[in-house]
Amino acid sequence: MLSRKKDPDFFLFSGKGGVGKTSISAATAVWFSEKKKKKTLIVSIDPAHSLSDSFETRIGGDIKKIAKNLYAVEIDPKKAMEEYKEKLAPQIEKMEMLRGMGIEGMFDAAGMTPGIDEIAAFDKFLHYTNSRDYDIIIFDTAPTGHALRFLSLPDVLNSWLGKMIKIRMKFSGIVNTIKKFMPFSDSSEETEIETDYLNDMKERIKSARAILSNPEKTHYNIILTPEDMSILESERSLGVLGNYDISVDMVIVNQILPLNPGCKFCTEKRKQQQERLKTINQKFGKFNVIEIPLFREEIKGMNELRKLGKLLYS
Ligand SMILES: Nc1ncnc2c1ncn2[C@@H]1O[C@H](COP(=O)(O)OP(=O)(O)OP(=O)(O)O)[C@@H](O)[C@H]1O
Ligand SMILES: [Mg+2]
Repeated sequence: MLSRKKDPDFFLFSGKGGVGKTSISAATAVWFSEKKKKKTLIVSIDPAHSLSDSFETRIGGDIKKIAKNLYAVEIDPKKAMEEYKEKLAPQIEKMEMLRGMGIEGMFDAAGMTPGIDEIAAFDKFLHYTNSRDYDIIIFDTAPTGHALRFLSLPDVLNSWLGKMIKIRMKFSGIVNTIKKFMPFSDSSEETEIETDYLNDMKERIKSARAILSNPEKTHYNIILTPEDMSILESERSLGVLGNYDISVDMVIVNQILPLNPGCKFCTEKRKQQQERLKTINQKFGKFNVIEIPLFREEIKGMNELRKLGKLLYS
């Protein structure tokens, strides 16, 4: 495959359940692939996938071309975990002192908080992040907690890997000492391969971390609805993102009710929303605040996604 010179641009959208992350991610993918002629990949990292519903086509765990310039994949956590275990198992088998603990046991022993399924999904994420086959990669995430937790994984993994490398180094020291007394043992070669493997993973995590906090490459956007709970949670997200040095591009206010003078309920509801919009503009005014109306129809299929994309980017 022809490799592209440039690293891709990344788009991530975070927000509470049901605010419109999948719809907006999909609309972004349609916009860039059609209007900007960018080779675009959309990756669902939400274990409860709904990309297939949004595009009204079956996607699944392998990259699928769904339109010109537009590719999609839904990471299957179970499959990712199996693949990850397969990849890691031979390495762990070689670490004598860890043998018998199993992969899960090893993560527990190192005081890891995330589950192996999350780490496996993150490994896939790293894989796509390092890909140079696409101009744009969009990640459709699960509700906020998940997306933010994902961002903390590089740190957690880094400290875990640090520990593993140290343990490994000590152990290789012992091996080398023993080796002096056992001239026929040839385990030192293996030792180097293992440490290389861990160092390599550490490097990849470091580069993912760098990409995620590079505002030129990573476009992190907050989605909310004009409601108090959504506003509070967006403020919390912004705080967390700040801690990770990740800057925010757009604050997208979705599902704003249109004028409807004939409907008393709608008018009352709209009035409340307009009040919340004022608060949003006060609180998030330094960001690019974009307002998206509530559509009459659900946002599903290419035509609706095109309409949404136009509102977001034109
Ligand atoms: N502006 C809008 N107008 C009309 N319907 C919308 C709008 N935005 C989102 N929807 C609809 O609301 C529902 C939830 O949207 P979506 O799945 O994009 O949210 P989500 O944030 O990805 O949800 P989850 O947190 O469950 O992943 C969908 O049925 C979608 O079609
Ligand atoms: Mg979703």
